[in-house]
Amino acid sequence: MGMTDLFSVEGKTVLVTGGSRGIGLMIARGFVRAGADVIISSRKADVCEAVAEELSAEGRCAAIPADLGHDAGAEGLAAAVGERVDRLDVLVNNAGATWGAPLESYPESAFDKLWAVNVKAVFRLTTALLPALRAAATDDDPARVINIGSIDGIRVPSMEVYAYSATKAAVHMLTRGLAHQLAGERITVNAIAPGPFESRMMAFALEDPAARSAIEQQVPLGRIGRPEDMAGTAIYLSSRAGAYLTGAVIPVDGGITTRG
Ligand SMILES: NC(=O)c1ccc[n+]([C@@H]2O[C@H](COP(=O)([O-])OP(=O)(O)OC[C@H]3O[C@@H](n4cnc5c(N)ncnc54)[C@H](OP(=O)(O)O)[C@@H]3O)[C@@H](O)[C@H]2O)c1
Repeated sequence: MGMTDLFSVEGKTVLVTGGSRGIGLMIARGFVRAGADVIISSRKADVCEAVAEELSAEGRCAAIPADLGHDAGAEGLAAAVGERVDRLDVLVNNAGATWGAPLESYPESAFDKLWAVNVKAVFRLTTALLPALRAAATDDDPARVINIGSIDGIRVPSMEVYAYSATKAAVHMLTRGLAHQLAGERITVNAIAPGPFESRMMAFALEDPAARSAIEQQVPLGRIGRPEDMAGTAIYLSSRAGAYLTGAVIPVDGGITTRG
């Protein structure tokens, strides 16, 4: 097998939740450029469809809008995916939300909202898509689930994001539990734990030059993550090269978590 084949995802069917912007868009664009058949999903239908159309100029991409913050959202998305494809090679559970507030005014509602979209939706969508993942899974080329966690679920973040960091630690543990359970069915489940990447979620920090520079100085590799850093890891996990890895939580953080 040549090096190109080792990292190929050409022709694979890929669903990226939250694929309309930020990290999800970085991953979706990487897969489109690598020749995969990509479906992106997010709440705002007009944005989701416009982004899919834009990505279609470089390859194959379709939009299926869905709200994963409600119980019916994951089932509805899985059913719509099932109508469009007969197998799903890669599921990227990326959609997520955050909430920051001082300890004593931190709203209890943030725990409910973030638990629903960051954790429960990952579980529901993965289980609802099992028939499509099973249809893709083989001994040599397992189906892949990639959950987007966070370094905030590994070490205590400097910002007060209590519910967010708790849900991201939950995503990492859910990843390991699902990986153990699904390995026998030739479905791998891994998590990517990003450090700082350009996105709406991080805009409040990265758009202010002083705050951005302070964040960059905390990164041992000295910079904010780039689209290729994120797309490259997701493509590796989905290719032949990543076929023997399951239950891993991979920090893509420029070395931030080397400080624990
Ligand atoms: N950026 C970072 O530095 C960073 C670091 C660590 C981890 N992460 C993780 O990376 C993932 C993506 O974050 P991001 O920074 O790219 O954030 P973002 O720019 O806010 O993008 C979030 C994406 O998720 C979608 N989304 C949000 N709520 C949703 C819901 N209820 N149902 C369906 N889709 C929903 C959004 O579209 P709609 O609003 O249209 O629904 C959007 O496409 C998250 O899981 C986040 O925790 C990000």
